[in-house]
Amino acid sequence: MGDDRVKTGITGLDAMLGGGIPSTDQIIIAGGPGAGKTLISFEILYHNAKAGIPTAFIALEEQPNTVVKNAKQAFPEFTDIDDLINSKLLFVDGEDPASKITPSSDSQTYSFGNVVSEIEGIIKVNNAKVVVIDSISLLKLMLPDKLIYRKSMIALVSNLRRLGVTTILTSEISSYERSRLKFNEEFFIFDGLVTMYQTGEEDKRVFALEIVKLRGSAHSKALSPYDITSQGFRIFTLEQ
Ligand SMILES: Nc1ncnc2c1ncn2[C@@H]1O[C@H](COP(=O)(O)OP(=O)(O)O)[C@@H](O)[C@H]1O
Ligand SMILES: [Mg+2]
Repeated sequence: MGDDRVKTGITGLDAMLGGGIPSTDQIIIAGGPGAGKTLISFEILYHNAKAGIPTAFIALEEQPNTVVKNAKQAFPEFTDIDDLINSKLLFVDGEDPASKITPSSDSQTYSFGNVVSEIEGIIKVNNAKVVVIDSISLLKLMLPDKLIYRKSMIALVSNLRRLGVTTILTSEISSYERSRLKFNEEFFIFDGLVTMYQTGEEDKRVFALEIVKLRGSAHSKALSPYDITSQGFRIFTLEQ
């Protein structure tokens, strides 16, 4: 697999990442509600699918067709989304983990295991190389015990790595956690962490993105503003 990178295809972001996401790395995109986690991860798969790379978007919190509908609305200039879906380069599937949460604590890990094996099934069937899991926050709710959650996440990450896929997992955080974020334990498990923030007043909200870590890579340390435009995300950065 070498040291090649998966390009995000997003203006400004690949430069910030030092060329892209290192191949077979597992990274987290964390941010508050409405920051654009679902849309940016969908856009990354869109560009990869367009380049002929099989991708899978696993929607755990919304219906798969809602994700596609929202992406089409946000990015009207991506007119070939349906073509990529029909040619199975962009595979959007879903799983409803909420339906698997059972009251007994013994079954917590069992249920989580089921969700994980279904995720692996989707990846294998489609031979996906770039995968989004949106989001892991519900998986966290399935495993209220911190130690079990941590162990399960480590297992998930090593399974994904064994499958040889590059994965983006989204995670819900409240934006005021910025100062504490770097010490949030679960993020140590993953190879990279990108955070998205909304700041400012309601009438002039400012979006900004930061690469908190990317294992073994030179990357931008800047907090970079971004816009969501009809032709995708645009990140304003000094890197070229
Ligand atoms: N049609 C649209 N045009 C422009 N921006 C949009 C559109 N639809 C959604 N957005 C922006 O995207 C944000 C939601 O993105 P989303 O990826 O669903 O957020 P998250 O997954 O982080 O909760 C909204 O806050 C809004 O600013
Ligand atoms: Mg979302």
